[in-house]
Amino acid sequence: MMLWIILLSTIALAWTTPIPLIEDSEELDEPCFDPCYCEVKESLFHIHCDNKGFINISQITESWSRPFKLYLQRNSMRKLYTNSFLHLNNAVSINLGNNALQDIQTGAFNGLRVLKRLYLHENKLDIFRNDTFLGLESLEYLQADYNVIKRIESGAFRNLSKLRVLILNDNLIPMLPTNLFKSVSLTHLDLRGNRLKVLSYRGMLDHIGRSLMEIQLEENPWNCTCEIVQLKSWLERIPYTALVGDITCETPFHFHGKDLREIKRSKLCPMLSDSEVEASLGIPQLSSSKENAWPTKPSSMLSSFHFTQPKPTKQPRTRPPIPIICPTGCSCSLHINDLGLTVNCKERGFHNISELLPRPLNAKKLYLSGNLIQKIYRSDFWNFSSLDLLHLGNNRISYVQDGAFINLPNLKSLYLNGNDIERLTPGMFRGLQSLHYLYFEYNLIREIQPAAFSLMPNLKLLFLNDNLLRTLPTDAFAGTSLARLNLRNNHFLALPVAGVLEHLHAIVQIDLKLNPWDCTCDLVPLKQWLEALSSVSVVGEVLCASPDRLARRDL
Ligand SMILES: *[C@@H]1O[C@H](CO)[C@@H](O)[C@H](O)[C@H]1NC(C)=O
Ligand SMILES: *[C@@H]1O[C@H](CO)[C@@H](O)[C@H](O)[C@H]1NC(C)=O
Ligand SMILES: *[C@@H]1O[C@H](CO)[C@@H](O)[C@H](O)[C@H]1NC(C)=O
Ligand SMILES: *[C@@H]1O[C@H](CO)[C@@H](O)[C@H](O)[C@H]1NC(C)=O
Ligand SMILES: *[C@@H]1O[C@H](CO)[C@@H](O)[C@H](O)[C@H]1NC(C)=O
Ligand SMILES: *[C@@H]1O[C@H](CO)[C@@H](O)[C@H](O)[C@H]1NC(C)=O
Repeated sequence: MMLWIILLSTIALAWTTPIPLIEDSEELDEPCFDPCYCEVKESLFHIHCDNKGFINISQITESWSRPFKLYLQRNSMRKLYTNSFLHLNNAVSINLGNNALQDIQTGAFNGLRVLKRLYLHENKLDIFRNDTFLGLESLEYLQADYNVIKRIESGAFRNLSKLRVLILNDNLIPMLPTNLFKSVSLTHLDLRGNRLKVLSYRGMLDHIGRSLMEIQLEENPWNCTCEIVQLKSWLERIPYTALVGDITCETPFHFHGKDLREIKRSKLCPMLSDSEVEASLGIPQLSSSKENAWPTKPSSMLSSFHFTQPKPTKQPRTRPPIPIICPTGCSCSLHINDLGLTVNCKERGFHNISELLPRPLNAKKLYLSGNLIQKIYRSDFWNFSSLDLLHLGNNRISYVQDGAFINLPNLKSLYLNGNDIERLTPGMFRGLQSLHYLYFEYNLIREIQPAAFSLMPNLKLLFLNDNLLRTLPTDAFAGTSLARLNLRNNHFLALPVAGVLEHLHAIVQIDLKLNPWDCTCDLVPLKQWLEALSSVSVVGEVLCASPDRLARRDL
């Protein structure tokens, strides 16, 4: 099927966004700063100070009079002091990813009035206070994934009126306070991998939505009781393309593993009718037609966005149509920000990926969950090299050809949960150099071969829970940078530290629950390893199954 849609504002957007100069050979007209490396690109000064062993911003003694981007990744900064950046006031982007930041003092960012982007990912921050981001009045983009954030105060973003993109995935956030987003208009919000159980409508969801283009809520322990109807109702009102990924219920038990959108409201909340629930929460009624209450057309989605081109008053100008090629039997939708396609082929009875024809162009996300696929071949993904997410969960896959994913160099998330896979080999993962998230829970995995994951240097999350593993091979995690590892509900009696756990140098969360731990001498290295983990790590309880005298004791 060939769908042709008219992309009005998308094209307008592409035309109004300044087009970066292609290769330019602009000269450095300002000093650099030893030991950093500097360049001019797209008329911005770029100062590269990654991995130089800095422990304090005060060590950057130079200042620059033109706008600049400052890269400080992989240094050793633990604290940002008040007024640290006063002399760096022309920075438009600062990257502090991969440091050891634990503390941001009040007023640390004073003076950064033109800063648009701030990267704080992969640090050890545990709180965003009301005063943490004081002074960042131009901030549009804030990235703080892979920290250990447990608390965000309700005024933390209140003066960030320009904030559009907020990336907070893989933290430990249990709840978001009321009015947190009251004065921001987010277009992108990533909350994957936190501890959220519910999100309320009033004071929270009603503040996000109008300008929203993408929200990610996967991997939270959603509690699917009456309260979550607020989230469900809100999801029915946002543009179909805005929610990326599933919302899978963790509790109560009878909804465990179910997608929230597929549970009837009357099942979640048997005592009240839909309209009673919604009315009591002040949720606007859906109009009687099945249309979304909020506009779904790209043109309208963008009209409230911060691009300042004048709104078309009558008929928008038409442009030549752009083709969307969508495999027969699937539905496709276009992401406005990168013109990438989300291809939804869930639960359509596919037996073989080669049946997906015609092949879409620029597919970014491919959902094939709930089909009948048994084998994955190397040729299956030849024309999918732009994929960043591939969901093959809940099929019947028992065979993955060596190099099956070799043509997916951009893949970040791979879901193979709920299949019949018994063995993991290094060959399966060849070519997945960008992979961050790998899901293998609920398979029949008994064997993992040595160095199975070593070809994935960016691997941060690995779910192997609910399999049949008894042991892990040498170098299982060598070469990865895992932050989250789930080994729950396998058959482990013990786990070696030498050659296995010792490679988990970046671990933030590890779940070892529901294994028959044999608390004898052999387990002493594991115990010592757990005790030596940094205080920011989270470990599920480790209960001994044997010997009898220690049964049910926490290791
Ligand atoms: C870092 O710099 C600040 C000044 O911005 C100073 O007060 C502080 O003592 C320095 N800390 C370390 C550990 O050098
Ligand atoms: C943070 O700010 C909010 C409102 O702006 C206020 O209600 C709250 O009490 C403040 N929290 C703290 C801990 O100061
Ligand atoms: C927030 O901004 C308002 C006005 O823009 C200003 O009066 C107030 O002092 C700011 N508060 C903080 C904590 O920066
Ligand atoms: C889920 O919500 C119900 C009802 O509000 C509550 O009783 C229950 O404790 C919650 N479960 C969890 C795991 O938080
Ligand atoms: C599935 O595709 C593979 C490779 O394209 C092919 O060899 C195989 O015969 C197909 N199987 C079925 C059942 O169509
Ligand atoms: C994949 O792309 C190649 C060209 O890059 C084309 O020749 C081939 O027919 C495509 N295969 C499918 C199944 O669309």
